[in-house]
Amino acid sequence: MDTVIIAIDGQASTGKSTQAKKLAENLKYDYRDSGAYYRAITLYFLDNNIKFDLNITDKILHKINIKQTYEEGQFRIYLNDYDVTDKIRGHKVSLNVSNFAKKKEIRKFVFNQLRKSSESNSLVVDGRDIGTVVFPNADFKFFLVGKPKIRAERRHKQINDDSVKVDIIEEEIKQRDKTDSTREIAPLKKAVDAFKIDVSNLTINEVFNKILQKIKSD
Ligand code: DC
Repeated sequence: MDTVIIAIDGQASTGKSTQAKKLAENLKYDYRDSGAYYRAITLYFLDNNIKFDLNITDKILHKINIKQTYEEGQFRIYLNDYDVTDKIRGHKVSLNVSNFAKKKEIRKFVFNQLRKSSESNSLVVDGRDIGTVVFPNADFKFFLVGKPKIRAERRHKQINDDSVKVDIIEEEIKQRDKTDSTREIAPLKKAVDAFKIDVSNLTINEVFNKILQKIKSD
């Protein structure tokens, strides 16, 4: 069966997953959140006290089973059969995930999971390297960017925790952009054939309409 792949990459907190979910629902495709894989793996490693500078072997990775579902507008992620949908968005995971996402063994693990999903389903996938590395032949590619301050404010609202200050989040976002775009393997960068959208001054619906328009016009 011919499957269609839509890649939505971009900086942290630009609304990639919001857009990808809306699109998946609109087109009746499956949805995969690649960042959620890295987050769930990070949670597993933190919970088991496995440091990121340790040698990550296949033996360790084989103990990790991740399942993603997207039904009736609800995304859920299971780590070894536990629902970790909310836990992976916590501050501790956010702070550590870039370090784990740098590791080549972990990237290979996520790469394989995503490729396998695409064999039988049309997918909308969001992440950092979907259009460049995981699915370089994706049918459509989008790259979302935004001003750090605006992204921090949006993330702050999402976290809904007043003890976490906006400027701290902004610094962390900048740091995360830097780690993601300067890492050796699969750095965050726009695929040459990706359509770039600056979301700083756009609403969710405005970004979505741009994406849909682009898909329909191609
Ligand atoms: O999109 P997010 O914030 O949930 O992503 C979590 C982390 O995972 C982020 O630091 C970058 C990393 N990531 C990645 O390296 N490659 C991807 N395809 C997706 C996410």
